Amino acid sequence: MAFYHKLGSIPKKKHTTFYKPDGTLYREELVSSKGFSGIYTNKYHLNMPTKATKITELPKLADEVWHEAELRHFHFLTDTLKKEGDFFNSRVSYLENNHCKMYAAKPTKNPDYFFKNVYAHEYVFIHRGSGVLLSDYGSLPFVAGDQIIIPQATIYQMHFDSFDDNKIVVIESDTPYEIPRHYRNEYGQLEEHAPYEERNFKMPQFMEPKGDLGDFRILMKAGNRIFEYMQPHHPFDIGGWDGYLYPFAFNIKDYNPKVGRIHLPPPIHLLYHTKHFVLCNFNPRPFDWHEDAIPAPYYHSNVDSAEVLYYVEGDFMSRKGVGPGSVTLHPLGIPHGPQPGKTEASVGAKFTHEYALMLDTFEPLFPTTNVQKTEDPAYPYSWLE
Ligand SMILES: [Fe+2]
Repeated sequence: MAFYHKLGSIPKKKHTTFYKPDGTLYREELVSSKGFSGIYTNKYHLNMPTKATKITELPKLADEVWHEAELRHFHFLTDTLKKEGDFFNSRVSYLENNHCKMYAAKPTKNPDYFFKNVYAHEYVFIHRGSGVLLSDYGSLPFVAGDQIIIPQATIYQMHFDSFDDNKIVVIESDTPYEIPRHYRNEYGQLEEHAPYEERNFKMPQFMEPKGDLGDFRILMKAGNRIFEYMQPHHPFDIGGWDGYLYPFAFNIKDYNPKVGRIHLPPPIHLLYHTKHFVLCNFNPRPFDWHEDAIPAPYYHSNVDSAEVLYYVEGDFMSRKGVGPGSVTLHPLGIPHGPQPGKTEASVGAKFTHEYALMLDTFEPLFPTTNVQKTEDPAYPYSWLE
């Protein structure tokens, strides 16, 4: 995150003695990124964070890439498959490449263990449901529409309030999610033209450090390998922390869309970027106001970026047959665009009511066998009149 945040008790100066009420030292941990050159946080633990009583490897996650998938467009439905489980083990993978992996999940229970994604940062979109993300940085309540960023190596749990109809989308990234440079001034503050404001971000709230001792199970995900670490103390044993590295959330409904006299391309809807892809938010907005404007997008060959749209709610102006939970993948190098009748229908339209997420990757993105199970096979031929 681009902003400094501080919770709980911390010493006046880093790397100095800081005593717990029982007279023993807090254990200071520096959590740093990009070596010592990126954002970082200093945490003050009741216990040494390095303690483990047993380390065991669990069965690997299966390779689910659909290796025979053709080079073509895909439309698939992420509400069809349901895997029972919590925020982690209910995930169903749909798209991946060497830098990111996209899942959808419908959590049906809360976890009795802790989780750490060791190799990846996570973006979690709450499509339906509410609850709280607990981490060693504190508690972060979430509601539908929230987009939570969980930095690589954060120990956390997601607890849902109920299990009627939860739905989340998760995108793992091997590089951090960052606020685009052109939204920030030289001091890091969001400029007036940015589509969101500092006050829109939800920050972790202080949680009393847990002093419990016993057997605490942490599942550590390292790519497709899962390791079970047993820790002799509660992992949320932080008395205080400060820095720039922590989980945070931003709700899609707080995104201020920009519009133009004629059609503006997706970078105008940018939310975050990583080194290998961008994320955009599409929100309800007035359409282009030139008297001859065509609000629907033109046909587009994105020669080096794969384009993915996750449909959240509303009417989708350029696509037939999609609804909430639908995903379209338009691979790089192949033209995509409005289906027959959609361009004409958009002329003269004044407003769009759509909410959608966009993921554009700078390398090919591969579908999994879960796409094969849930796709509309007629989609690649849906431009025939
Ligand atoms: Fe495009």
